[in-house]
Amino acid sequence: MILNDGRLMPQLGLGLMRFGSESETAAVLSRAVSAGYRLFDSAAVYGNEQLVGEGLRQCGVVRQGLFVTTKLWNTEHGRLKARAALTGSLDRLGLDQIDLYLIHWPLPMEDLYVDTWRALIELQGEGLIGSIGVSNHTQEQLVRLIEATGVVPAVNQIEMHPRFQQHMLHEFHKQHGIVSQAWSPFGGGGTGEVPVLSEPVLIKIAAKHDCTVSQVILRWLTQLGASAIPKATSMKHLAENIGALAFDLDHADMVEIASLDSEYGRTGPNPMTFAVKDWSAS
Ligand SMILES: NC(=O)c1ccc[n+]([C@@H]2O[C@H](COP(=O)([O-])OP(=O)(O)OC[C@H]3O[C@@H](n4cnc5c(N)ncnc54)[C@H](OP(=O)(O)O)[C@@H]3O)[C@@H](O)[C@H]2O)c1
Repeated sequence: MILNDGRLMPQLGLGLMRFGSESETAAVLSRAVSAGYRLFDSAAVYGNEQLVGEGLRQCGVVRQGLFVTTKLWNTEHGRLKARAALTGSLDRLGLDQIDLYLIHWPLPMEDLYVDTWRALIELQGEGLIGSIGVSNHTQEQLVRLIEATGVVPAVNQIEMHPRFQQHMLHEFHKQHGIVSQAWSPFGGGGTGEVPVLSEPVLIKIAAKHDCTVSQVILRWLTQLGASAIPKATSMKHLAENIGALAFDLDHADMVEIASLDSEYGRTGPNPMTFAVKDWSAS
């Protein structure tokens, strides 16, 4: 897909949160690259940027063929800290440029996200970042960033899945040329009384198209125009997920999936109140 700054980003990628050991990370990255993944979603707080950088270098794909995202953590807001945070991520990943750098959470109670955004604009101007964006930002926060700087984020990475569809925010993104990128597209995989992946409506649609529920969810997201970064580790899951662009859902499927939205569907933190700095405590 084409971002609002003219750069290309793969629509589907691999989420890299909560990967285990060094060998597991390298093995999953190697599997993912051979399955066709080129977009990799890391974050300073995941603590694995170094392993991700090393793993990707071992995969045999030229740097230009990869799209690496990482994110500025909550302790690093503000103009000066943002520069140091980016330098740290570049060093750990072993890269000269991050393809997509995101402000991980807005922390409205600290009111520094506009300053942080100004820093990202400067760092992009210096060539250290390809595209700049945010994560977990509300419509009001996006309006503030745009009005203060005139620069529209390329991406807003948000919780987005059949039980928490974020229709209004996604519409706002579309109007402003911002890509909605879905985190936890499977609702994290196993939460709730009936996990999203066991939702009967999705099972029925999957049977109709002779595909898996994960593929139905990813196709629903991509047909809406969103990007998604599911986490997966086995070759079976990796291949299923990247194969989700090979069929189309029809209008009736899209309407049925829309009916699964719930105001109680959020599985992650609320961006208006989330202020955690110490990840290990969260
Ligand atoms: N910006 C943010 O604030 C934020 C917050 C949360 C997450 N994220 C990003 O979003 C990524 C994904 O979110 P997530 O890890 O919370 O959850 P998720 O992608 O919704 O779900 C991951 C779970 O689904 C399972 N799975 C993957 N493919 C499957 C398939 N085809 N069939 C059945 N199960 C499958 C995985 O199992 P296996 O591992 O066994 O394959 C794992 O248990 C993260 O890795 C991270 O990069 C960003």
